[in-house]
Amino acid sequence: MNIVLTGFMGTGKSSVGKRLAEGLGLEYADTDDLIEARAGMKVRKIFAEKGEAFFLALEKDVIRDITSGKEGLVLSTGGGAVIDEANRRFLRGWGTVVCLAASSGTILERVGSGDERPLLDRPDRKAYVEELLKRREAAYRDCDLLIDTTKKGVEEVTEEIRRFLFC
Ligand code: S3P
Repeated sequence: MNIVLTGFMGTGKSSVGKRLAEGLGLEYADTDDLIEARAGMKVRKIFAEKGEAFFLALEKDVIRDITSGKEGLVLSTGGGAVIDEANRRFLRGWGTVVCLAASSGTILERVGSGDERPLLDRPDRKAYVEELLKRREAAYRDCDLLIDTTKKGVEEVTEEIRRFLFC
């Protein structure tokens, strides 16, 4: 069994992914962590020094590498990974793709100061989050299961995914 957790920043992908993997006895990986390990620098620094296109190319590579010949993995992706259609098609062929969503207000609350999120490093954060959500909506909807986590905690969301997988 392979499961992909995707969706916008601050929707709970990492917390839910870790909890799900733990409960199912599966391995867990996070594309941002894999990218940082490969580049030897934090996501913020990659964006600042190499740019978003470089980050996205690395992301594509780590997705291909971590999934190759792999069975029994829960993979959380960065929020931009499935915006690329090739990544999306690839991941949907590899595993069950669960997309987490949340309202812009909840996203902004959860990401807090957003030090880890270079894309949100701007004065018009709220408007930009709303614009990105709109722009990305169709890509995020292209999944096996879509869960709005706005009013839900990690346990509840994890349980919803478990029910979907086993019912
Ligand atoms: C991004 C989301 C981030 C990270 C990068 C780009 C995006 O991951 O991959 O900053 O384009 O939405 P999280 O969704 O885990 O914060």
